[in-house]
Parts: sequence; C-alpha cells; structure tokens
Amino acid sequence: MDPLALSKRVYIESYGCQMNVSDSEVVASILAQDGYTPVKSAEEADLVLLNTCSIREKAEYTVLQRINEMNNLKARNKGLKVGVLGCMAERMREDLLEKKKVVDLVVGPDAYRTLPELLKKVGTGQKAVNVLLSREETYGEIEPVRLDSNGVTAFVTIMRGCDNMCAFCVVPFTRGRERSRDAASIVNECRQLVRDGYKEVTLLGQNVDSYKWRPTPSAFDTGAGSNRSVDPQGRPASDSTGTTDFADLLKLVAVACPTLRIRYSTSHPKDMTDKVLEVMARYPNICKYIHLPVQSGSTDVLHRMNRGYTREWYLERIASIRRIMPDCAISTDIISGFCGETEEDHQQTLSLLKTVGYNMAFMFKYSERPKTLAARKYPDDVPEEVKGRRLAEIIEAQKLHSTGRNAGYVGQLHEVLVEGVSKRSQEHVFGRNSQGSVVILPRMHKGTELLPGTFVKAHIINASAGGLKGDIVDLMEEIQRTSVFHSATADHAPHASL
Ligand code: 5AD
Ligand code: SF4
Repeated sequence: MDPLALSKRVYIESYGCQMNVSDSEVVASILAQDGYTPVKSAEEADLVLLNTCSIREKAEYTVLQRINEMNNLKARNKGLKVGVLGCMAERMREDLLEKKKVVDLVVGPDAYRTLPELLKKVGTGQKAVNVLLSREETYGEIEPVRLDSNGVTAFVTIMRGCDNMCAFCVVPFTRGRERSRDAASIVNECRQLVRDGYKEVTLLGQNVDSYKWRPTPSAFDTGAGSNRSVDPQGRPASDSTGTTDFADLLKLVAVACPTLRIRYSTSHPKDMTDKVLEVMARYPNICKYIHLPVQSGSTDVLHRMNRGYTREWYLERIASIRRIMPDCAISTDIISGFCGETEEDHQQTLSLLKTVGYNMAFMFKYSERPKTLAARKYPDDVPEEVKGRRLAEIIEAQKLHSTGRNAGYVGQLHEVLVEGVSKRSQEHVFGRNSQGSVVILPRMHKGTELLPGTFVKAHIINASAGGLKGDIVDLMEEIQRTSVFHSATADHAPHASL
C-alpha cells in the first residue's frame, strides 16, 4: 500500500527571501511530528501552505493571485485546507480571513510551533489564526526537513527579526524583534548537514552582523563540573564576556565543519566589522563573497532611509573588504525612487555602482509599505515613470559592471562546487565558485560524470554578465586551501561563448 495514503500530505510554497525557504523547512519538521508528509504539488496535498512575503506590493499581489487559484483546487478537492504563513499572515490577518474565504489558517513567522493545534481547529471546520510575535522564538532545536533539496546546498537560520527600522522596510513589523539562535545548535545543524552529504551551507539572518549569543552556563559544556563557554572542540568559544558574535560564529562553523563551504546573508554596512572580514580571509572554506546592500549612493537619501551610514562610510567598508580579501566578490541591493530622491541623488547611485564595481546587484523600484517610517513621514513623491527610468538606468549600468567583474576571472583557476545539470544543456553542469558566480562546465571529465556535490578545479574560459564558463582541470577530493588558485597560462585563451 502506498505509505502516503496513510499520512496527511502537505505542500508548502515559499515566496520571497531565503529566510522563508528556511522557515518552510522548520514548518515541514513541525508538521512531520504531526503526521504530515511533504508532497511536490498542491494537487496532491490535503493541506497547502503559502509562506508569503510582504517586502514589496508586487510580492503581495503575486500571493493574492495564488490564493484566488486555491478556489479551483478546493472545488476539485473538498477536503483541502489552505493556510497563509509568513509576513503577509502577520500584516494582513484580518483581510485574509475576512476577504479571502478560501483561507482556513493564518500563522505568523513566530507561531509555527502552534500549527498542530491550529490544524486541529481547522479540522473541525473553524478558521484558525496565530500571529503573535515573540522576543525569544528561534526554533533553535528543531531539525529542519530539507524541502526541494539538491542534496548539496542548504540554509541554516542563525537569527530572526530585525531591529534596524530602515524607513522603507516592513520586516521589523512582520518578523518582529531581533534575536539570535543558540550557537551550539547552529554548529550541530551544520555538522548534521556534513553527515548528510551536504557541501555548502548559507547562514541566514536579516542582519547577520548583529548576531550575538551569550550561552547559558551549560550550552557548550564538555565535562563534569565545567561551566565555561567552550566551543564544540572544547576551546573557549568567544570573547572574555562569553559572548559569541558573528565573527566567532563563522569561525566556530568553519573549524567544526572544515569540508563544508560556508556562505552567509545578509550583512549590514553599519555593523560589518573587520573582525568578520579577517575570519573570512583566514578560513578557506568560508566563501569569498559578501552581500552588502547599499540601497542608495546618496548620503541624503541614506539618511532619510535611516540606514545609519553615509556614502563615505560605505565606501570605507568596501575598501576594507578589498584590503583584507582582494579576491572577494561583492553584491548589493539598490532601491530606485525612494521618497525625495532627486536626479542628483540618482546620479550618485550610478557613480557608486561604478566606484564599487559590484559583481551583482538586486535592484528594485521603491514600493511604499504600510506602517513603515517612510509611509508615515515622507510622501512617495517620485513619479512611477521616473522610478522606472532610473531603475532601467541602474540595471543597464550594473550589467556592464557585472560583465567587467566576470571578465576579470577569465584565465583564472577557480574551485567550483557542482550543483546540478545545466537547464540549457544536458551536456553541461552548473556550479558556483567561491565568489558566488555561476560556472557552466562540461558534464563529463575523462569518462567520469560530474555529479552534484563534486568540487572541481576549473579553468575559466569565458564570461558574460550572467556567469562564467569553464573547462575542468581536475576533480578535487574536497575544498582546497585557496579559492582562486593562480592565473593560467596563455594557451588557455578564452574560446567559447556562454
Ligand atoms: N521597496 C522596494 N524595495 C525594498 N526592499 C525592502 N523594502 C523595500 C521597499 N519598500 C529591498 C531592499 C532590501 C531588499 C531585501 O529588498 O533593497 O535590501
Ligand atoms: Fe529591513 Fe533594514 Fe532590517 Fe534589512 S536591515 S530587514 S532592510 S529593516
């Protein structure tokens, strides 16, 4: 008999950021305890959960359309229950329950532990809701069920919420106050990933640089009678106050899992320390890539955004990265058309893009969000077509910078972790170098197929704005001591196009 027939089936669809993907895996774990098995499509499920994002109006609109589609599914499957999780649950609970009759369940990001009891209520035909935010919840000890996993890369959440109150951002309202997860549970989860065959982890938080964990006396204890903070190897975990900051945490994970590649996201320029950069430089398994959202190149705009730094401060942070890790890639987020942005401000953003020469950027039009500081204090006064034109100029400029950065890698030897078969060609695989660029490689090397999870030494032969193409030089047992080996010789000239 099909084992699925005995269990309840849940389909979880994640929207928005990586934190939501990671949260969905916590939800799957909580529901597994309650007898639910994850399935791969809404059509197969008894319960569909939409883990939603409120960051821009467009993101919410996409989910609202998807909620409407659930009516058709329910018409075909009378027993189907539909739940809304995540940021929209927090922000729009009444609207969702009153105006979207198809929604049975609304659960905010800090209330997932209550899902089993809420589902009991839903089972009796009632609607159920819990959107209480918490100052403590980190789901620290919950072992996530990896959904849609490629078996190679995984996310581990290290902190939740945000205290920054950037003027444009809804996150502090939907995800609540900042809190850090127990460092020991993070290290343990990473170790488990290694045991399960994973090769790369991304440590996630809204603002990882303000990670701070002060262990309770027993958290890292190794032996009887000792109540010192010690790391999982038995060494002192952190500074003299016993606090583990983000740099300490990175080091702990890098040492505990030397064969695991480590990435993280997202940094905040006002909090990113040289201590973090020095740890990154020291450990070869920490990827040389930093996502450092700038949002705008104009100090005036940054001030209104309440970002806590100036253009000059930001550029000084970039200079530190370049000094401590010359081979480090940097990406950013940009918002075009924030309240009061002038043409001169916009030019400053374009000039900052040029000065930094980002490897990559995520670029958005400003979208006013209810409750935020900007919504309360500043008129959304840049006309839509001006926002659009400025965004197009930013995208155009960034494309050149991405192309330039990638072109600079041609001729180098990079360590690439293979993630899967290329979507465009069955003869090729794709992976990423330490800098986070996608690298396309031949699928076969000397009669051996490159399987996901293989580390490859690759000679970069071609570049475009979107990525790199390489030849395989060698397969590697595991991560090497450096991320960029050395420049290749002239006979390896670029010859293929992506
Ligand atoms: N409008 C447009 N973009 C936004 N972001 C956050 N809030 C808004 C908003 N209201 C962008 C920022 C942030 C990224 C995750 O989303 O650039 O870094
Ligand atoms: Fe939003 Fe700013 Fe917090 Fe990022 S740091 S989640 S942009 S408030």
